[in-house]
Amino acid sequence: MGEGILLAHVDRGVLLPEAQRIARLEAALPQIEAAVAGESDPVAVQATLACLLWGTLAQANWCGFYRRVGEAMLAVGPYQGGMGCLRIPFDRGVCGACARTAATQLVPEVHAFPGHIACDDATRSELVVPVLVQGRLEAVLDLDSPHVAGFCAAEARLLEGLVARVFRGISG
Ligand code: SME
Repeated sequence: MGEGILLAHVDRGVLLPEAQRIARLEAALPQIEAAVAGESDPVAVQATLACLLWGTLAQANWCGFYRRVGEAMLAVGPYQGGMGCLRIPFDRGVCGACARTAATQLVPEVHAFPGHIACDDATRSELVVPVLVQGRLEAVLDLDSPHVAGFCAAEARLLEGLVARVFRGISG
């Protein structure tokens, strides 16, 4: 069992081969979408995704949301993992780059990313997906891993699809 959805157990921190990670995420996605179907409160959806993606992505050491709270400022939202930074301006870090550009950031080695914010020294790679509602950036989904190249492009595409579907029409 995963946490709340039906998935085989994988120990926290294990980086499965890419094909297995994609299969695991593809198995989880319909279950995650079913879990939040009909919910219109953004925090309820963010919290449930943070929980269920944490159970799915064993390679992650942080999984959650930063919410837009100003013209160019993010504040931490629901997450799982170690304590995250409370605020991230749009001009800082991988999350800020995602918020500023509204484009997914797949960073295989954070030490090579100028301005990376090291909330956890163990983090080596990161995937940040923008949450756009009617073209406006409302939040970012941030995933960190202690592995170099902990996330791949196929995982990024699958997660972009998930956030596009579950946050459609949900702003705030
Ligand atoms: N590493 C991130 C900051 C977010 S926390 O580590 C959870 C960044 O550079 O945006």
